[in-house]
Amino acid sequence: MTERLADIAAAMVADGKGLLAADESTSTIKKRFDSIKLESTFEARRDYREMLFTAEEAMTKYISGVILFDETIRQSSRNGTPLVDLIRKAGSIPGIKVDAGAKAMAGFPGESITEGLDGLRGRLKEYHDLGARFAKWRAVIDIDTTTGLPSYGALRANVQALARYAALCQENGIVPIVEPEVIMDGPNSTHDIHTCYAVTEKALKFLYEELFIARVDLEGTILKPNMVVPGQKSPVQASPEQVAELTVKLFKATVPVAVPGIAFLSGGQSDELATEHLSLINQIGDLPWKITFSYGRALQAAAIKAWGGKDENWAAGQRAFTHRAKMNWLAGNGKWKAELEKAA
Ligand code: 13P
Repeated sequence: MTERLADIAAAMVADGKGLLAADESTSTIKKRFDSIKLESTFEARRDYREMLFTAEEAMTKYISGVILFDETIRQSSRNGTPLVDLIRKAGSIPGIKVDAGAKAMAGFPGESITEGLDGLRGRLKEYHDLGARFAKWRAVIDIDTTTGLPSYGALRANVQALARYAALCQENGIVPIVEPEVIMDGPNSTHDIHTCYAVTEKALKFLYEELFIARVDLEGTILKPNMVVPGQKSPVQASPEQVAELTVKLFKATVPVAVPGIAFLSGGQSDELATEHLSLINQIGDLPWKITFSYGRALQAAAIKAWGGKDENWAAGQRAFTHRAKMNWLAGNGKWKAELEKAA
């Protein structure tokens, strides 16, 4: 039976469930492990991911899919079960990060272009054989109001690469998550929320233009955007209600109704704020897409800390992950409340 891309995409955003972004590259997971003074070995990375993927309540009730890194999609648990099978057994869908990272863009000082298109067709075929049914590609768009970034050229090149990637995914039976991340934590992120709105608007308008030109079927895609938030170093911060209101306003103006779902990145927001914003967005209601989470840090920060790299803390790590997954699932249904944070 052939699987329809639109069905996979719909399952990825069903019932308030969301995605666990566990696709940290080897250098990024090392940074996370440094914070608990744990050496990043092949086995430690496997143990950590196995701990997350065997958290039964989280994986069966709140998580629809997991984004993996190339190493992880090939790894097996301590008792020899492929990690991909653990994910599938929990009723969740395995996915894979396929970009090769954001690299300095020639001729565009301070800006980056995401690489990874060369040989992508072959890699997608292999990942499909390994069980992946969706993929992720992240473009990084930095705002610097002092130097006028982002430039038109860098924005255009990044969304064009996203469109080429998306077309290749669909050719190979894989749902592309398209992620044009306007980052909030760049080296000079002093911009206010309105600047984030204007830049994200441009990124999304250009993105959907390029996806159209590349003949990508939007029903078989998921958008992974940033929320509309001020830069982390902005002197003018915003209320959660303002973030929700402007984020919804922006998507209504830019994201076609044919897109089945929007799954946010957390981007450096605190765990609770990422959850509160998602809930407030869903509370606005009457939206044409499912709106949920595809969090990395906001789902894992507490779990890494509770686990601390020690076997005896395995259950504590799973509890911390399950708590955040549940809070975000409630938010995906517009039902998160501050009291629920405390009660659990
Ligand atoms: P964060 O939620 O930590 O931003 O990570 C999500 C992600 O996958 C970024 O590409």
